[in-house]
Amino acid sequence: MKLERILPFARTLLQRAVQPGDYAVDATMGNGHDTCFLADLVRDHGKVFAFDIQQQALENTNLRLEEQKLASRASLFHASHDELLNCLPLEAHGKVTGAVFNLGYLPGGDKEIVTKPNSTISAIKQLLEVMAPEGIIVLVIYHGHAEGQIERDEVIEFVTGLDQKHAHVLRYEFINQTNNPPFIIAVEKR
Ligand SMILES: C[S@@+](CC[C@H](N)C(=O)[O-])C[C@H]1O[C@@H](n2cnc3c(N)ncnc32)[C@H](O)[C@@H]1O
Repeated sequence: MKLERILPFARTLLQRAVQPGDYAVDATMGNGHDTCFLADLVRDHGKVFAFDIQQQALENTNLRLEEQKLASRASLFHASHDELLNCLPLEAHGKVTGAVFNLGYLPGGDKEIVTKPNSTISAIKQLLEVMAPEGIIVLVIYHGHAEGQIERDEVIEFVTGLDQKHAHVLRYEFINQTNNPPFIIAVEKR
């Protein structure tokens, strides 16, 4: 058998957590691949809330959603993910079953605009407030760039400190590969 690779494993986790009619969050919409993936999972009665600080990301994501006829299933916010509690409608509180972060910079975009530890950690805390029990937060950690290494360390310190009564935290990583390949942190709200 082949061990499941990092990006497919992220999707497997989300696929198992998010059911038709659910609410889901794409915390770093970028070019919209994950927003579309989640929009497909929630079907017509669910909703995906997606965040990015770059207008370009919203445009790219909107285009992708339109092409796939999924636009009605997503709300796009031109806002930092640490604005999550202000942006999500009250009806979604307590009902988010899956969330994903792809940390780092927008592929094909400005490599100076990267996710930052403080806002990433704040968004994880806010998500833990609005997730349903057994909801899953999937973080794909890219640590090939200098700021990514700082973010990796701070995020790991934060999630390692989460009380196991409130969350299970998993790390999924190939540990013998060169060039700092991405790895996964998954947080299950208990
Ligand atoms: C690796 S890309 C995401 C790729 C995306 N999943 C896709 O399917 O294309 C990271 C994205 O996070 C965005 N970002 C950086 N800081 C952010 C923040 N505080 N809140 C929301 N998005 C942020 C960047 O603008 C960038 O588009």
